[in-house]
Amino acid sequence: MHLLSKISALLALSLAQQKLSSAEEIGNNEFNKWISKHNKEHYHQNQKEYQKRLNIFQNNAHIVQRHNDAYEQGLTSYAMSLDSPFSDFTDEEFHSLYLMDSQNCSATHTSSGPLQFKNTDLPKSMDWRTKGIITPVKNQKDCGSCWTFSTTGTLEAYTCMHNPSIDCTKWTGLAEQQLLDCASDFDNHGCNGGLPSHAFEYIKFAGGIDTEESYPYHATDEGPCLKSFKTYGAHVAEIYNITSGDEDDLVNAIGLVGPVSVAYDVSPDFRFYSHGVYDSYNSTTNQIMCKFDALHVNHAVVAVGYGETEATENKESIPFFIIRNSWSTSWGMEGYFWIKRGENLCGISDCASFPIVPIGKEKLGNGKLLDGESTQLARTSTLRKRG
Ligand SMILES: *[C@@H]1O[C@H](CO)[C@@H](O)[C@H](O)[C@H]1NC(C)=O
Ligand SMILES: *[C@@H]1O[C@H](CO)[C@@H](O)[C@H](O)[C@H]1NC(C)=O
Ligand SMILES: *[C@@H]1O[C@H](CO)[C@@H](O)[C@H](O)[C@H]1NC(C)=O
Repeated sequence: MHLLSKISALLALSLAQQKLSSAEEIGNNEFNKWISKHNKEHYHQNQKEYQKRLNIFQNNAHIVQRHNDAYEQGLTSYAMSLDSPFSDFTDEEFHSLYLMDSQNCSATHTSSGPLQFKNTDLPKSMDWRTKGIITPVKNQKDCGSCWTFSTTGTLEAYTCMHNPSIDCTKWTGLAEQQLLDCASDFDNHGCNGGLPSHAFEYIKFAGGIDTEESYPYHATDEGPCLKSFKTYGAHVAEIYNITSGDEDDLVNAIGLVGPVSVAYDVSPDFRFYSHGVYDSYNSTTNQIMCKFDALHVNHAVVAVGYGETEATENKESIPFFIIRNSWSTSWGMEGYFWIKRGENLCGISDCASFPIVPIGKEKLGNGKLLDGESTQLARTSTLRKRG
């Protein structure tokens, strides 16, 4: 007995030491691997900068390890990874480079009216990526232009839905740069932020949006507005706002209409997301980190589906949204993440909207005529507004 307890105490001690040393050992080797994977070779050119970034990387390693311990204990439903493309940044740096200023979404109210459907058979799960209408994930780079990518990602999907001739799994899509350069009159602020609903309004008013190819993205907001419309990519006829805070309205829209632009509050933990259902769990405070209200959305993305995890003997299933981000495919699950559904987590339904594209034949590309009539009519007959 005595010997056994001594052995087990020793074992526990050595395990604890092992854990400590594995965190400390995150050093040059891991960092150098990370550097070459994420193309940050320039850190090698400046010893001071290298050391600074290594220290930040090591701090982040502790955060990730602590969180993943909690994940293994079942305290949180998502895992983090130090392989995130943002592991060389502090929270403050990340926030100022990649997120937009908090936007006031309190005007996303009910005036659109809840969606009403003839067909009330809401699918149990939906993933628009399987329908061939979702374009490849893009990279906003260091500019708070998420709102432009949320706008194009959703509008590309509707444009694809009505134009089967486009191969959307390869299409480079629509011009974020046009929104950055030209949409300021609609209460958008370039790299400091904006709202998809306001960007849809701009596209409706401007008569369309160029293609990515004709108006390439360069991650700054200093240029003049260069829209040409010689290469129309898409049009917007109307904008539909999800009733603010109404997740059922959001799920109905995704399940029965199509993808939806959503915005929410990103807290510092989010940049390390790797896989699983994001729940904004903080393993130090045991609390949810993000804010839920309409005055605190700082990131806009595209909701492309929803589902729930499988229940096991000791775990209930967790409902989630499937969301497309604009931080390249090297972040999250090939550029996507799941976020917990059913409690308006991080304000996910506070500021949601989608475009209704015009009925009829539309010009796209170099004057090519596209036939989207039948699908659009089929859709609008299921989409009626409460009068
Ligand atoms: C947010 O916008 C609403 C509606 O436009 C306005 O009434 C409200 O004062 C704004 N709130 C803040 C804190 O700016
Ligand atoms: C939709 O929401 C935006 C804010 O996100 C607001 O400016 C706009 O007025 C709303 N439109 C309608 C029809 O409610
Ligand atoms: C969790 O909260 C603590 C205390 O507010 C904070 O210091 C820490 O950075 C948070 N953790 C993460 C992963 O952001």
